[in-house]
Formats: sequence, C-alpha cells, structure tokens
Amino acid sequence: MKKILITRQLSPKNTAQLTDKYDVDIYENTDTAIPRDEFLARAKGAHGILCMLTDKVDQQLLDAAGDQLEVVSTMSVGFDHVDTHLLKERGVRLGYTPDVLTDSVADTTIALMLAASRRIPEAISAAKDGEWGTWAPYWLTGQDLSRSTVGIIGLGAIGAEVAKRLSGFGCNVLYSSRTRKEQLEERLSLEYVSQEELLKRSDFVSVHSALTPETTNLCDDSFFAQMKSTAVFVNTSRGGLVDQDALYDALSQKKIYAAGLDVAIPEPLPVDNPLFSLKNCVILPHIGSASIRTREAMTQIAVANLDLALGGEAMNHEVAL
Ligand code: DGY
Repeated sequence: MKKILITRQLSPKNTAQLTDKYDVDIYENTDTAIPRDEFLARAKGAHGILCMLTDKVDQQLLDAAGDQLEVVSTMSVGFDHVDTHLLKERGVRLGYTPDVLTDSVADTTIALMLAASRRIPEAISAAKDGEWGTWAPYWLTGQDLSRSTVGIIGLGAIGAEVAKRLSGFGCNVLYSSRTRKEQLEERLSLEYVSQEELLKRSDFVSVHSALTPETTNLCDDSFFAQMKSTAVFVNTSRGGLVDQDALYDALSQKKIYAAGLDVAIPEPLPVDNPLFSLKNCVILPHIGSASIRTREAMTQIAVANLDLALGGEAMNHEVAL
C-alpha cells in the first residue's frame, strides 16, 4: 500500500477516498500547521504528500521524504512554498487548486477596498467604544470606490474577477501586465498602461501577482512614492510582494491614504508589528479564500489530485514544472 501524509486534519468525508485506498497518516490538527520536525519525520517513506501553503517543501523535506515520493498536492493556488525546480529535478509532480477560489479572493479584495477606503474598522470601533456622538457632516469620511480609477497589477484569473466586479461600481480599470489582454480587454473594458502610469492615475491599486524572485518586494518605496496621496493600496496575493517597512512609511507619513492587506510577512503577523498601530491599515488574517464552499472545493481538488497522480493519471490541476 502506498503511503500518504496529509499535513492537516481535513473533513473526513473528503479524505475517505484516500483512507480506503492508501496507508494514510493525517496530522491531528486543523488549525495549526504541522511542526517542521514532525513534517520531516512523518514525510519519510511517503509516496504522496497533501500539504498546505504553511508547509515548506524544500530540499530538506524532499530528502527526508525519500526517493519514492511521487506527488505533492498543495491545497492552495499559490505554490511559492514549494521548490518547483527541485521537484522537477526529482521527477515529483505538483498538484494545486486554482479556479475554485477565484471568486472568494476577488470578493475579499473588494471588501478590503471598501473597508480601507471608507474606514469601516474605525467606524465599527467608534460605534462600539462610545465615540458615536451626534451625526456630524465630516466625521469618518473616506474615499469612494464608486466611479474611481482602479489599477490592477497582475491580471490573472483573480485580477480579472476583481475587474469584473468593479464594472458594477462604475470604475475605470487600468492594468499593466499584458497577460490575458486579448481575452479580457474588450469584455471588461480595461485600459492597458505602463506600471508608472497606473500608479500615477489610480485611486486604488490592487496587486494580484504570484510571488517569485522577480516580484519579491515589488511594492517598495519608489512604488508607493508614485501613488497618489489619496490612493488606497490592496494586497490579497502574498505578503512577500510588499516591502512592509516602505508601506509603513507611506501610510504613517500619509504618502498614500490607506491600505488593505490579507497577507503579510510573516504570517501570522505579530501583534506588535507597527502596521497594526495604524488606523489607515486594515489587516485580515489571510482569509481571502475562506468561504465554506471554496474551502470544501479546494479540499476535494487537493484530494483528487493526489489520488489521480498516485494512480499514474493526469491530475485535474497540475503545475507544469
Ligand atoms: C492560496 O490558495 O494560495 C490562497 O492564498 C489561499 O487563500
């Protein structure tokens, strides 16, 4: 019987398809990541590993697992936690879970745009904390998303869904990467501009790029310096895209208006991180895809990918290494 390691307790109805067929070892916890030393020890001899974005799959892990490892199936669309070059070198296949989370992450992006621009967390605290006095004409006023200009950096599936939603808000949408241009530009009435122009013209800037060595710290001092002082920055992709010191400076010195983040470096972001001290920074704990329907679908895809690969078949969603 082939051996499988699943690094988180997932709903048993979804994993039954594996437990019937394979020798399955499941880490006993849903809400905490498998400790590194346990990951290394329990991966030994595994033919398949079903992991989360919290589990680093690098040389140490692959060495610990051994040569029999056939497949890594990550329950995420992002796979920056996996050393893809090494996987390719060792002939280990990689499954992931794109598409099913596109809507949920796009929804979260819009929620962050609204929360940060309209100062929603501040308003909730004010109401709760007894600061709600008589109605005041200029109290807690923010920026409008409706009819604003929004710049999307990284127009993949999620960026495109964000653009679709923004048309309902009457926004003028700019984008700066040529991917998917042909399919999307006409349908969504987007405007292609250089990144420099996008930053100069946008009232909202939303990043949707994968984290690679090229995109690490893409949003740095000079990036924020080019944005309008009234603009809102949103990141629902990966924390590593942002130089957080530069973001802190931009927000605290009012070089930009506000930010909405669903991701950070590190995760969890320690509560004493200076970004938490800023009223104009709204931070969510990486819940972009956290709807019940989406997480269920991600689980099913990750399980099916693993099963298909171990049966020598094509996975439903396989990364071309
Ligand atoms: C992913 O799957 O990569 C997302 O970040 C989860 O929300």
